[in-house]
Amino acid sequence: MAKLVFPKEFLWGAATASYQIEGAWNEDGKGESIWDRFAHTPGTIYENQNGDIACDHYHRYEEDVELMAEIGLKAYRFSISWPRIFPEGRGKLNPKGVYFYEKLIDKLLEKNIKPAITLYHWDLPQALEDKGGWLNRDTAKYFSEYANFMFYKFGDVVPIWITLNEPFVSAFLGYAWGWHAPGKKDMKGAFVAGHNMLLAHGLAVQAYRDGGYKGNIGITINVATVYPETNSEEDLKAAEKQDAFGNRWFIDPIFKRKYPEIIWRILEENNWSFVFPASDFDIISSPIDFMGINYYTRNIVAYDKNSHLGVKRVEGPNEHTDMGWEVYPDGLYDILIQLYRDYKIPIYITENGAAYNDTVEDGRIRDINRINYLKEHIKRAYFAIRDGVDLRGYFVWSLMDNFEWAHGYSKRFGIIYVDYNTQKRILKDSAYFYKKIIEENGVDG
Ligand code: BGC
Repeated sequence: MAKLVFPKEFLWGAATASYQIEGAWNEDGKGESIWDRFAHTPGTIYENQNGDIACDHYHRYEEDVELMAEIGLKAYRFSISWPRIFPEGRGKLNPKGVYFYEKLIDKLLEKNIKPAITLYHWDLPQALEDKGGWLNRDTAKYFSEYANFMFYKFGDVVPIWITLNEPFVSAFLGYAWGWHAPGKKDMKGAFVAGHNMLLAHGLAVQAYRDGGYKGNIGITINVATVYPETNSEEDLKAAEKQDAFGNRWFIDPIFKRKYPEIIWRILEENNWSFVFPASDFDIISSPIDFMGINYYTRNIVAYDKNSHLGVKRVEGPNEHTDMGWEVYPDGLYDILIQLYRDYKIPIYITENGAAYNDTVEDGRIRDINRINYLKEHIKRAYFAIRDGVDLRGYFVWSLMDNFEWAHGYSKRFGIIYVDYNTQKRILKDSAYFYKKIIEENGVDG
């Protein structure tokens, strides 16, 4: 039996996102999303791949839920494709899109798997992008209308709601650096987009509360523990800035009703600051039930006089995954302790996992490196609980190999292998490893 045993109600799950797995990009009345548009633009994605078919989950969801049940998942985190529900972003509803999620949720409940819904995992309806996307403050209002509909429809049967997945990534990779949809390169715009996302989050939380639903609502933030390269004053300052920008920019407004000042000053120096009604913070800070965190790696930083932030990344010495990300499990422990100390809120690890270049041998995937990754991180999750953190659950990224954004299908994060030619799924060794963890509600020390 496992030596490190988790609390009885601990929620073991796996996560996915609509654009990364569903496919059926233009079926049954679905509207175009910014990811459809972006991936159809030559030169944006590895080998010009796209999510048109992806894992074909839209047609294979039953088989996929069966696999979840085989692994023994207690919860499944997935996202809703907003343009499947409202093809134009607002107004006319698409009943067939709603029906797809209804069938998926029914199937999950039938298998005793708790649905955890992410309302926004980056696939904004293109029709709203045409009106300015997240740069347009009205998008926040449209998001809350869409969210409100989803609550009304599924609020009684879905116990966990996540408003946004990683607003940092949608704002900066999408609007400042152009690596993600909608592919814009405008630093000030990214800050504005991020603010409107926070507003969208707050309005949705208010709608959820107004509806009197019994479940829990929160937001998912990508975090990376920050360590200074040296203890020099300059490096320590760089680490403080990186933490404020990379981790706290989207958390402090929710819990502290303000943006980190150390970064706001940089916005002012660069003419990136923007104006908004102070009352926005009343909305943004609407109380939430939990914080979701996605943790993959850490950040070592040093002072860099040539960057706006005054910060440069330094590579760590440990093994790196196929994404080029350093494996650093202690960073998960450290960030859990830090976040719980600073915000005193129940936490879910809504994503954690690793991409490795898996190979199938005799029908089997011996992904020892992924097993080690998961094991070491799950151990740190246990230590954090032992040391007082109110950690409620852990979701592996990802249930299955899928469309890894700008990397297309070249990076495999799944505990289930997907053969994209045949759509055949194979449970990797890591899936069996995870199954055992769930069965024993713990991990060996
Ligand atoms: C995202 C996922 C993504 C994963 C690995 C997270 O940033 O939420 O959609 O696939 O990291 O890159």
